[in-house]
Amino acid sequence: MDLLITGAAGLVGRAMRRELRPWFPRMRLLDVAPVSDPAPGDEVMQGSIADLSVVSAAMRGVRGVLHLAGCTTEAPIEAQVEGNVVGAWNVFEAARIAGVERVVFASSHHVVGYYPRRRRIGTEVLLRPDSRYGLTKAFGEGAGALFADKHGLRVLCVRIGFAGDAPVDRRRLSIWVSWRDLAQLVRIGLEHPSLRYAVVYGASDNARGFFDNRVAFDLGYTPKDRAEDYAAAVLAATEPEPEDEVGTIVMGGHFANLDHQGDPRRVLEW
Ligand SMILES: NC(=O)c1ccc[n+]([C@@H]2O[C@H](COP(=O)([O-])OP(=O)(O)OC[C@H]3O[C@@H](n4cnc5c(N)ncnc54)[C@H](O)[C@@H]3O)[C@@H](O)[C@H]2O)c1
Repeated sequence: MDLLITGAAGLVGRAMRRELRPWFPRMRLLDVAPVSDPAPGDEVMQGSIADLSVVSAAMRGVRGVLHLAGCTTEAPIEAQVEGNVVGAWNVFEAARIAGVERVVFASSHHVVGYYPRRRRIGTEVLLRPDSRYGLTKAFGEGAGALFADKHGLRVLCVRIGFAGDAPVDRRRLSIWVSWRDLAQLVRIGLEHPSLRYAVVYGASDNARGFFDNRVAFDLGYTPKDRAEDYAAAVLAATEPEPEDEVGTIVMGGHFANLDHQGDPRRVLEW
């Protein structure tokens, strides 16, 4: 098998199967939900990444892993831990046991979602998770570093902004990544000869971008798509966002609003 994709039934999983097929024709698709539309030759496995024996079985004989599965909403902490802590650990651990060297981990910009939009940040900044989701995604980045240093895995963490066909609102003009640009980053993670461990932003060429993606550029990333091509339509269709709640002040948007207590502008003080 050329590639194991966890979370293959999800939004990103379906798109990455399509985009990566020319380079990774034989895929094993793992998801706790049914995978309804495998390509001929794909191997489908239904099971949870929270179960190490399931992930170990999925890992057998693969060249690399695209790890997408996990909790993707602001669910209670127990669900975050199951999907994004235990699950991420199991993926790295199963890769180590099976001798699978390459793991691309789908992280999220929500690990730094409390940074004010007026900043432009690289991946070396302190974490400012905007949610339980962002916090547990940060665990996956840390686990990747641990397995790279301790066990020699080669790991790329991609802090996806908003993956989709097009940026759909003003905030997403700053964080959008097209499917083909995201696939290019995944290929860098699976193929770059000198990659050991790196964290990059999953973002296209966005003129209004929040992120300094120089780590990705140093690895040869050349985004093909520009959010600005959609800007006129997005700006015409949406109202400017008043800075009256924290989600319109910081990069993470709605996730920052959830459960936020006190003065929204407090987060501008550091
Ligand atoms: N879509 C985006 O714009 C975006 C942005 C930032 C980060 N991400 C990350 O990219 C990844 C994919 O996101 P998505 O939008 O496709 O999400 P999604 O919710 O559509 O897909 C996630 C998939 O993982 C599966 N899954 C959940 N828990 C599982 C478990 N315990 N075992 C096995 N499978 C499990 C789900 O059934 C689902 O098919 C996620 O890790 C997400 O955090 C996505």
